[in-house]
Amino acid sequence: MKISITKTTNSRIEGVDFDNLAFGRVFSDHMFVCDYKDGAWQTPQIVPFDYIPMHPAMMAVHYGQAIFEGMKATKSHDGTPLLFRPEMHAKRINKSAWRMCMPAFPENLFLDALHQLIELDQAWIPPQAGSALYIRPYMYASDEFIGVKPSKTYKMVIFTCPVGPYYAKPISLLAETKYIRAAEGGTGEAKAAGNYGGSLLPARLAQEQGYDQVLWLDAKEFKYIQEVGTMNIFFVMNDKIVTPALGGTILDGITRNSLLTILKDKGYTVEERPLSIDEVVKAHQAGQLQEVFGAGTAAVIAKISKIKYQDVVMELPTDNSVGTELKATIDGIRAQTTEDKFGWVVPVGAMQTV
Ligand code: COI
Repeated sequence: MKISITKTTNSRIEGVDFDNLAFGRVFSDHMFVCDYKDGAWQTPQIVPFDYIPMHPAMMAVHYGQAIFEGMKATKSHDGTPLLFRPEMHAKRINKSAWRMCMPAFPENLFLDALHQLIELDQAWIPPQAGSALYIRPYMYASDEFIGVKPSKTYKMVIFTCPVGPYYAKPISLLAETKYIRAAEGGTGEAKAAGNYGGSLLPARLAQEQGYDQVLWLDAKEFKYIQEVGTMNIFFVMNDKIVTPALGGTILDGITRNSLLTILKDKGYTVEERPLSIDEVVKAHQAGQLQEVFGAGTAAVIAKISKIKYQDVVMELPTDNSVGTELKATIDGIRAQTTEDKFGWVVPVGAMQTV
């Protein structure tokens, strides 16, 4: 399907301070939009970034059929714009779509849209280390209808934001023992907007106690660690690296997957398994909890400085050696200064169909 392109005649790039980018507040010049109607995706287009009119009865805002992805484009050391594992995001958005009873988006059209959009707005990719062009694809139900059933029409949109680091400093976590993020059989594995909506009250309550984020525990026993509000989590304990196994309630993070691959390749002992908060507390008491870090597209690697669980407060070192090494590896692959052994980086314009 051919994507029509209308370029802006009024670029806003001159007014952007690329050295001081707040995350998610600055939007680049163009966006991709495609509509689903009469059983097919149609009229894919790249247009100047603008508001999208909304009917008051638009189903997404009433019944929550809304899903999204988070990706990043970077520049190699020679200035080539690069995407990171775009095909994984093309597949994951369709897994989320399936769970939320939404139509799949053609993977090749998703990739084509990314390549063309980033090509057009490549001047918006910040060259500063630790910065990137954050890419936000999302799909929502656009029927104008009151009643709980799947929409018949949808919109897919992709816009981009030049961003600096999501977390500027190490963060503290409160292990949540009242509220849950996801239960088995629920939508926890989907990147569904509602999962994030439900996390906001517990996150605010944690912030009122002085903690930056919630550490989610399982919904049955409040025993097994799931993830953090914005990322997956890794523990370095007794010289092993442990991250909670997927299983329906945890987001199958693409950064998580990349880190597991890098860690195994570097010869670390890595365990993906159920991990109880009691085991973490015991490791801390035994002096075996070496470091903890979060991993996600927005956050990349976020150092964790403290975790509170019930009455136990675990202060953690933040001179993370494993986390720091992983961040340098991921950043290096994204800048093509570290060998891309796994073929993850795709130069914009060199689209491979799937
Ligand atoms: C991302 O890491 O890209 C995400 O989508 C998390 C979001 C809550 C910022």
